[in-house]
Amino acid sequence: MSKEQVGTYTITILPGDGIGPEVTEQAVRVLQAVASRYGHTFNMTWALVGLSAIEAEGAAISDATMQLCQRSDAILFGAIGDPLGAIGDPPRGAGLNSNLQPAKALLRLRKGLELFANLRPVRPFQALLNTSSIKAEVLQGTDLLVVRELTGGLYYGKPSEIRETPRGDEAIDTLLYTEAEIERIVRTAFALAKDRRKKVTSVDKANVLSSSRLWRRTAERIAADYPDVTLEHLLVDSCAMHLIRHPASFDVIVTENMFGDILSDEASMLAGSLGMLPSASFGTRRTAYGLFGLYEPIHGSAPDIAGQRKANPIAAILSAAMLLRYSFGLKEEAAVVEAAVERVIDAGYRTEDLREAGKEIISTQEIGRLIAEAI
Ligand code: NAI
Ligand code: MG
Repeated sequence: MSKEQVGTYTITILPGDGIGPEVTEQAVRVLQAVASRYGHTFNMTWALVGLSAIEAEGAAISDATMQLCQRSDAILFGAIGDPLGAIGDPPRGAGLNSNLQPAKALLRLRKGLELFANLRPVRPFQALLNTSSIKAEVLQGTDLLVVRELTGGLYYGKPSEIRETPRGDEAIDTLLYTEAEIERIVRTAFALAKDRRKKVTSVDKANVLSSSRLWRRTAERIAADYPDVTLEHLLVDSCAMHLIRHPASFDVIVTENMFGDILSDEASMLAGSLGMLPSASFGTRRTAYGLFGLYEPIHGSAPDIAGQRKANPIAAILSAAMLLRYSFGLKEEAAVVEAAVERVIDAGYRTEDLREAGKEIISTQEIGRLIAEAI
């Protein structure tokens, strides 16, 4: 979009817990730099989610905040999770599935806003190939996109509970997918692959799971509508191996909720750090400028480094770039943010997680400022 075209865009900012507010602050700083360079108005409204919302508002995400999200063009999300990093039991007196668990905020947002498609691009920066724990020659040419199903499967299936029995406690989770749920995410993957290198890898566990057999059958059926895109199937355990053996062989990976959660954390190591990977989540709703979406780094609240000015804000900043591209249709601005990140990395600046001999380690705030200035 040129400088003459001036728009107003609304963003709900949900910084959350732990390092969430630290990295989100830098992403907002970068958005403000874009706004002032291009003459845009980004109307930002902040709200609480996670532990801070439980303390102040009595729920991991309040109804008012859900409505605020619904009314905006896009959501920029930090991370949630309690400061001890405990995943275990909810606060005393609260049911196991109560909305007093911080993680419930994210599950409610995704489900409530019908954000079923989560896109996680993995394209390691050339200058960071040596910071990865994987050999640079293996990483060379890696440019993949994980398309994770986000509103079905084990994280939502009912029943999901720990229950008492005469023989002791037992626990159950339910893995359920409808054909329609599989079809829409697989179609999303094929549509994205069409504009990339035209290859879809569908990941399942069809040798064991019924849900995976339906997944595979559905993927086969959809593939017929995209004759120019190649479809391959991989079992999830084999995919985990191939991801670090030959990452450059992948283009688009499409998979169910939990497999996608796990594989994308693994894939983050290709980019050097969990603090490097952005994500975007979409449903079918459109805004005046593009797709309504929620944008968030793939990492959590990292209680082990919270408040120490060590968090890498690049995943959050690259999430803001995805927001500009997909929800606002501001392609040039998005590319400028990505180029600014690359320039600062090329200049040798690193946060603690990307420590490398001969490079200068700087704080969350300093690297955010340098990236904003590079815009
Ligand atoms: P995590 O992603 O918060 O951290 C894993 C490791 O990576 C830690 O050593 C952390 O210091 C490091 N790390 C993560 N992001 C980083 C960044 N930007 N810069 C530098 N280092 C970074 O996962 P963990 O420790 O398993 O979970 C902590 C809490 O976060 C838990 O309460 C969990 O439930 C929650 N969580 C929330 C998510 C979300 O809000 N989307 C996603 C994953 C976990
Ligand atoms: Mg995860």
